[in-house]
Amino acid sequence: MSKPRKPIVAANWKMFKTPSETADFFKTFLPVLGNMDGVDVVIAPPFPCLPAASEHAGKSIVRIAAQNMHPESSGAFTGEVSAIMLRELYVTYVIVGHSERRTLFGETDAFINRKVLTAHASNLKPILCIGETLEERDGGLVKEVLSRQLAAGLAGVSADDAIETVLAYEPVWAIGTGRTATSAQAQEAHAFIRSELEKMYDAPTARRMRIQYGGSVKPNNAAELSAQPDVDGFLVGGASLESGSFFEIIRAAVQASVEG
Ligand code: 13P
Repeated sequence: MSKPRKPIVAANWKMFKTPSETADFFKTFLPVLGNMDGVDVVIAPPFPCLPAASEHAGKSIVRIAAQNMHPESSGAFTGEVSAIMLRELYVTYVIVGHSERRTLFGETDAFINRKVLTAHASNLKPILCIGETLEERDGGLVKEVLSRQLAAGLAGVSADDAIETVLAYEPVWAIGTGRTATSAQAQEAHAFIRSELEKMYDAPTARRMRIQYGGSVKPNNAAELSAQPDVDGFLVGGASLESGSFFEIIRAAVQASVEG
């Protein structure tokens, strides 16, 4: 039995790699990736690297994501970029609500929701990040936090657009710390998220929506995490910067999806 959803594995390069380093990555990564199928592969480089990434991704299965965008299409917003600018660079996905944006740049659920709505209106697929801090986990608030971030982040999003939305469960305490959620912790959170989606939409919609796990995903923990029934791929930081380790993670997700 295979899993009901196609896995999606995305690289979030954060503020790493220049345009020439991006080109070099693609030159080694695409031959390694070969004609792998049964998975959506996404790379989110920094903004200045988007043209190089799109050009090199070419007709491969790799799709390009931006790491952020502004909800307005244009205006006096120094330092920001809009959805239409990204579309012109052949960007397909956009990460919104990453915990680094929430904590370091003060983004609120309401602002993140505007980005989700703009992304859909602009034909970009949002990867909406949610997840609790360590304090919230220790305080028994995981479900409360996830419910709030989901309800606010997806406010006004139709069921059709929800299916085109990717969720990324990223417990903040697992990001860049080397401390991964156990597969049981990940599965519990993902199953809860899916049950919330069922309440917000309906069972068929919830069943089709993909929920990635993010937070210290590495080649040596990707297989066990992927084997969880509600883990539909990964949002990978550090381990996506090197083509070999990113490929191993993709392979683990594909393997688990085939084995169900
Ligand atoms: P790490 O994989 O480096 O922990 O980063 C996770 C992340 O924040 C992906 O968006």
